[in-house]
Amino acid sequence: MTAFARQGGALYAEGVAIATLADEIATPFYCYSAAELRRRYRLLAAASAASGAAIAYAVKANGNLALLSLLATLGAGADVVSEGELRRALKAGIAPARVLFSGVGKAADELAFAIARGIGQINIESEAEFERLDRLSGRGGRQVAVAFRVNPDVAAGGHDKISTGRRGDKFGMTFAEAEALYARAARHPFLEPVGLASHIGSQILELSAFETAFERLAQAASRLRARGLGVARLDVGGGLGVAYRDDEREPSLQGYGALLARLARASGAALTIEPGRWLVAPAGVLVTAVNAVKRAGGRRFVIVDAAMNDLLRPALYDACHPVWPVAERGGALHAATVAGPVCESGDVLAGDVLLPDLAPGDLLAIGQAGAYGAAMASAYNGRLLVPEAMVNGDRFALVRRRPSHDEAMALERLPDWT
Ligand code: LLP
Repeated sequence: MTAFARQGGALYAEGVAIATLADEIATPFYCYSAAELRRRYRLLAAASAASGAAIAYAVKANGNLALLSLLATLGAGADVVSEGELRRALKAGIAPARVLFSGVGKAADELAFAIARGIGQINIESEAEFERLDRLSGRGGRQVAVAFRVNPDVAAGGHDKISTGRRGDKFGMTFAEAEALYARAARHPFLEPVGLASHIGSQILELSAFETAFERLAQAASRLRARGLGVARLDVGGGLGVAYRDDEREPSLQGYGALLARLARASGAALTIEPGRWLVAPAGVLVTAVNAVKRAGGRRFVIVDAAMNDLLRPALYDACHPVWPVAERGGALHAATVAGPVCESGDVLAGDVLLPDLAPGDLLAIGQAGAYGAAMASAYNGRLLVPEAMVNGDRFALVRRRPSHDEAMALERLPDWT
């Protein structure tokens, strides 16, 4: 079952017609399915159960508070990369001990905030960060659990810009650097080295990349243990991909679970995974209305009211999201480029899709948009930040409303010399 399905020709989110939502909220807006979020969380939890892996949801994929609190009730912890994400996770009811702090450039005040709130683990990515933590730790006599993020030198990920675990990427450290710092941390009065972390990339469709990274992590854990250093935890990051195009297939969840179970056995460590996209991408659509249909240079352009500021992925990564007419239409399908109103030629939401004849006012839903959609939205071109709705059965809630233009300008001040 998919949460977004047709009933009598009209596209629904669970029991609510998308057209009804469009009347209530006005396009463009994101719509999430609570049932699909629950279903995917439970599938992943079941597939990883044999490994005992803890799920720390990567808040960056979608930090909406309603979505976070739904995942919190299912048992999710959180992987955060900023004070803002940490505050969101805590506000959504995720216990600080279930939160871990990733990221290549954590600021001193963010680290201090995380320590003061009793965060469960900080993943150190450089010697400079180790030293920053060294200076901060000990305030209030707190022990801080730290893991060291290694760069396992594995090429993985759906796009160059989202591959993170190759030598030469900015993330993590070499095994040698991490192992040296590990030994230093073991002598530290307040830092408690609990393990290693790695995240090799995002939108990974081949399990073999995980397999290689996991093997290298297990070997590093053995080396540390051989030096008398305890390795209680291994955080293997996120990265599981989803199918955006018809010719893509999600990796086997059972296969992923089996790799995790093997790593848990081989390493004897408690595992953490940091899934983002896999959990939430298929649980969201971006709903937009057609503004105009025009031809230019032999191409048919469907100009819609959503734009690259609402969904950046196609412009930034050439991502191909599926596009569905909200009201089913008969007739022939024609190639179309779905573009937004932003003043950039790169403002394309779908470069080459087959769509029926459309007219202004017709609604389209852009699929697989629950991850890195609203989370990456901006107000470029003076547009208002895109609102978000969540459907649960036959009910829905506006879980982030559209700001007014006054609110959008409220943070700005005119100096008296302009
Ligand atoms: N853990 C760490 C340390 C990460 O950096 C990321 C994603 C994740 C977990 C979650 O990865 P996931 O399971 O979602 O693949 N904006 C890009 C994706 C950037 C991902 C960055 N890091 C996109 O729209 O494709």
